[in-house]
Amino acid sequence: MADTVLEVSHLTVSIPMGKEVFPAISDVSFSVQSGKITGLVGESGCGKSMTARAIMGLLKPNCKITEGSILFDGKEISHASAKERCDLSGNQMSMIFQEPMTSLNPLMKVGRQVEEALRIHTKISAAEAEKKTVEIFREIGVPDPEKRLKAYPHELSGGLRQRVMIAMAMICRPKLLIADEPTTALDVIVEAQILSLMKQLCESGTGILLISHNPGVIAQVCDDVSIMYAGTIVEQADVYELFDHPMHPYTQGLFNAVHSLSEDRGELDVIPGTVPDITHRPSGCGFCTRCTQVKQQCESSFPVMHEPIDSHRVRCHLFDGKESHEHAH
Ligand SMILES: Nc1ncnc2c1ncn2[C@@H]1O[C@H](COP(=O)(O)OP(=O)(O)O)[C@@H](O)[C@H]1O
Ligand code: SF4
Ligand SMILES: [Mg+2]
Repeated sequence: MADTVLEVSHLTVSIPMGKEVFPAISDVSFSVQSGKITGLVGESGCGKSMTARAIMGLLKPNCKITEGSILFDGKEISHASAKERCDLSGNQMSMIFQEPMTSLNPLMKVGRQVEEALRIHTKISAAEAEKKTVEIFREIGVPDPEKRLKAYPHELSGGLRQRVMIAMAMICRPKLLIADEPTTALDVIVEAQILSLMKQLCESGTGILLISHNPGVIAQVCDDVSIMYAGTIVEQADVYELFDHPMHPYTQGLFNAVHSLSEDRGELDVIPGTVPDITHRPSGCGFCTRCTQVKQQCESSFPVMHEPIDSHRVRCHLFDGKESHEHAH
């Protein structure tokens, strides 16, 4: 069995607003295994980035972890600062964002940035680092690498910048990479290339948390998938099981939207309504304002996570009392 690099359990992040405190995410649990890609998918505003920032220690000052634990390589990091996390993890956690400009140094040529990453992680000379960087750029499909090395980040396309970020991650070989919407700003061809680089990185042993609002992206490369809605995980399974048998009404709605897109009906068959703002989330199931199967108890009682099929979990009242026999004790 693969090693668990990241284990998030019952994580809650709260934000005080006025006299009240609102949970931005609540009871979030999932894990990332080394050499595997875990997907986190849900519409915009569901709490995906908040989850990523809580893991990396990059929460905004008004957001606090109020419950749960985050184990990196078996070590509790949930209350460590970003700096302490670096020490605890030995720089083995990295993150890439939708817009790589935020992580690249705008004043340094991209080749230099990759060379420096190389020289921190391997004892090689400057000349060797330059040669190796050209090789890496060629490997990851950067056209005309000698010339691109000398470019500043703003002189490259979004796709090339994201490649540079992934190249740096490949050099550092982190145990965990969190990629928050890494291909959202890119066209589908470049997206496919970036996803294949991430797959390559994961084959070398890195565990990856891939965050996307697009189930199509998740289906292409992930091993395990968690569906997030209104700040909580509503469904979880391995990628084949989940896409073959989506159980949660939200997951079904999300997948139908993708299917109707791929069938080119021209119009996105979206789930009617919008994701509730954190100050307006229902006290029961977060999806009750949009669900076509809503029952009376859905509005007042927050559903627990059920496991109707082994390793396939769903948080919905439709599954109350339907635990798998292997799971129920
Ligand atoms: N610093 C903050 N203060 C208050 N609310 C926030 C803050 N950051 C995010 N939120 C709210 O938390 C919710 C989840 O946001 P986010 O994690 O960015 O969603 P996603 O990445 O899934 O689009 C949203 O309703 C957003 O408006
Ligand atoms: S708990 Fe109720 S409202 Fe929520 S998804 Fe299930 S049926 Fe729909
Ligand atoms: Mg986000």
